Amino acid sequence: MIIAVDGPSAAGKGTLARGLALHLGYHFLDTGALYRMVGLQMLRTQTDFTDVAKATAFARDLNVDDFEDHELRSEVVGSAASKVAVIPEVRSALLKFQRDFAKRLPGAVLDGRDIGTVICPSADVKFYITASVEARVLRRFKELQGLGIANSLQDVTADIKARDDRDASRSTAPTLAAADAIVVDTSHLGVEEALELALGAIKAKFAI
Ligand code: CDP
Repeated sequence: MIIAVDGPSAAGKGTLARGLALHLGYHFLDTGALYRMVGLQMLRTQTDFTDVAKATAFARDLNVDDFEDHELRSEVVGSAASKVAVIPEVRSALLKFQRDFAKRLPGAVLDGRDIGTVICPSADVKFYITASVEARVLRRFKELQGLGIANSLQDVTADIKARDDRDASRSTAPTLAAADAIVVDTSHLGVEEALELALGAIKAKFAI
C-alpha cells in the first residue's frame, strides 16, 4: 500500500502524512528532508549551486542518519533544497531510495512534491494538500518560532513565494497535483479534521 502526499510548502502535508502513517501503522518518508540534506551539504561546504557534479555526489552519498539534524528545518536550508531540487541529476540520484522505501511492508506514506506524479505514479492513494499563502505563511512562521529560529513574517512570506515559484516552474518534476489525486485545501482545516478527511477517503476506497 503506497500513499502519496504532495503539495506546496507548509500546506500541512508533512503533518498529515505523519498522522496517516502513525494511524495505519505504515512507514513514513519525508522526501523533502532528502533535498534539504543535499542543500545543507552545499551550504556547509560553500559549494556554488551551479556545481551539478558536487550536488549529485552529495545526493548519491546521503547518510539518512543525518535526518535528525536540527538545521534541516530552517528556511535557509529549505531554500537551498529547492535550488538543488531543480537539478535533474540530483533528482535521479534520489529516485531509487524513494522507490525502494515505498515498497516497505505493510505500507508507506511519502510526502513531497512529485510522489504521485514521478516517484510512485501508481500509488494506491494520492493526496494533493494545498492552502492559501496566508495560512501557509502563518504555519511556517509558527513552526520556525517553535524551533527557536527567528524570522519576520515578511521574510517567511518572501521565502515561501520564492520557493513556490521555483518548485512550480522547474522543468523536471514540478509541484503538481496528479490527475487522480484527491485535492484537500487545509486553509480552514485543523490537523485532526484533515486527518479524518484523508482517512475517510482511504477507507472508502479500500474498505479498511
Ligand atoms: O516542508 P516544506 O514543504 O517547506 O519543504 P520540504 O518538503 O522539506 O521540501 C524542501 C524543498 O525540497 C522543496 O521546496 C522542493 O524544492 C524540494 N522537494 C522536491 O523537489 N521534491 C520532493 N519530493 C520534496 C521536496
